[in-house]
Amino acid sequence: MAFEDKIKELINKREMARLGGGEKRIEAQHAKGKLTARERIELLLDEGSFEEFDMFVTHRCNMFKLEEQKVLGDGVVTGHGTIDGRVVYVFSQDFTVFGGSLSEMFARKIVKVMDEALKVGAPVIGINDSGGARIQEGVLSLAGYADIFQRNIEASGVIPQISAVFGPCAGGAVYSPALTDFILMSEQQSYMFVTGPKVTKTVIGEDISIEDLGGYKVHSVKSGVTHFVAETEEEGLMMLRKLLSYLPQNNLEESPLFECSDPIDRIEDSLNHIIPDDVNKPYDVLDIIGAIVDNGEFMEVHSAYARNMVVGFARFNGQAVGIVANQPNFLAGVLDVDSSRKAARFVRFCDAFNIPIITLVDVPGFMPGSAQEYGGIIIHGAKLMFAYGEATVPKITITLRKSYGGAHDVMACKQLKADLNYAWPSAEIAVMGASGAVQILNAKEIKNIEDPNEQAQFVVDKEEEYRKYFANPYQAAQFGFIDDVIEPRNTRFRIIRGLSLLQTKKETRPPKKHGNIPL
Ligand code: HXC
Repeated sequence: MAFEDKIKELINKREMARLGGGEKRIEAQHAKGKLTARERIELLLDEGSFEEFDMFVTHRCNMFKLEEQKVLGDGVVTGHGTIDGRVVYVFSQDFTVFGGSLSEMFARKIVKVMDEALKVGAPVIGINDSGGARIQEGVLSLAGYADIFQRNIEASGVIPQISAVFGPCAGGAVYSPALTDFILMSEQQSYMFVTGPKVTKTVIGEDISIEDLGGYKVHSVKSGVTHFVAETEEEGLMMLRKLLSYLPQNNLEESPLFECSDPIDRIEDSLNHIIPDDVNKPYDVLDIIGAIVDNGEFMEVHSAYARNMVVGFARFNGQAVGIVANQPNFLAGVLDVDSSRKAARFVRFCDAFNIPIITLVDVPGFMPGSAQEYGGIIIHGAKLMFAYGEATVPKITITLRKSYGGAHDVMACKQLKADLNYAWPSAEIAVMGASGAVQILNAKEIKNIEDPNEQAQFVVDKEEEYRKYFANPYQAAQFGFIDDVIEPRNTRFRIIRGLSLLQTKKETRPPKKHGNIPL
């Protein structure tokens, strides 16, 4: 073959590979409102930065007449490119080829990008749109999945791993996204479950739709499996780009520093009026976050799940931080099973990737009741405590209002080795709130007062007395558990100064194989 013909052959092969399962199937994909695997990569990465691996890989299965159906690339597009000029590795499952089902060679392609990403120290983004294990390949595809899972596990805490789910993700296939740091689902055609509706009906008789079993609403609100939801795939891909802007390339690096146009000494007077006089009145902690971070920009994670806790990324003076905040606007910001789990995972992510943690506390305590106790609040609350206590990144805690009981300890108190603990003058740091305390401490006296008015007055007086001692930050400050009581309007500046101070922080824990976080 002449040299020029060889080049033509290469170009033809590339064109064939780019067509995946063919034009008809691409049309069918578009008709469902979905983008193709390649279109997704194009939108995700910086223009022209994508370099593909393994375009000519095909499967090796000679059963079920598969030998007659070999598609270049075998159903997954893999390679690397850049996002805002920083290297990322990607794989994007191609539903137009055998329904994006995972074969032995398909898995090998994914394993290759993961291995390369680990070598180079760059994030991996996986886009899932697949019918699961390629049925014709049997155990080879199961082994392929397990090879990927093992890479996910080894890469965990070393490079950021992010999953987008833009189609089916069913059966054991869900476990690769589940092992990654963040999952994003789209509102269209995206669903995840271990067992589909048909088998669910057969095995346990439950009749349930695919959306109700594993759609985006279920996983963003109820299960907490997905961290982000996007209305469209395009929006989702932009969200992934934004998310990466807060993250370092790997666990040995820092997040990128951004130019900060928001004055670092901006005084936010509104914060001096934001806490209601009535301690039981809610307010939106998102307003406080918005007022203190650079340009009010906050990327909330898990925004629809366990809303009594807010977690997400923001910047102070251009430096990325993780923010963890109780949300008085939802269940009074109480700690329960879901919110503890949500915050614990986020704190561990930040610690693994050198992202300082800012904690805003307004917590009335742990949610009481059998539902929480049976649900294992003891273990889940301990998770959050463990996560904070093992974290060695800079930790700054601001107590805004309530900080009661065990929840006070859990929420990055001084003894969990927070570096800087500030409180607003509205802080109340105590074993419990005034009414609960009086009912316990003065139970006998209350019972002995027969006249109801007199009894009510006694309770009011006792509560007032209790508040005098504990409904303020000064007892905690007196013991040095609070480093300073600050004016709310200065919060931004104090955090920025704290972060700057802590830039050279070095803290280690005793060497060990790994801790045993209460899972
Ligand atoms: C091989 C598959 C396939 C699979 C789909 N296809 N899934 N081929 N193995 N797992 C093929 C179809 O035969 C079809 O080929 C093409 O992909 C498109 O599929 P359709 O069914 O036409 O598409 P749609 O109607 O959109 O339905 C999508 C689907 C459905 C819901 C994903 O295909 C489906 O239920 N597939 C099986 C899902 C499944 O049970 N997978 C195994 C899960 S267990 P043609 O040639 O007709 O276009 C698992 C274990 C992993 O994954 C364990 C890891 C530990």
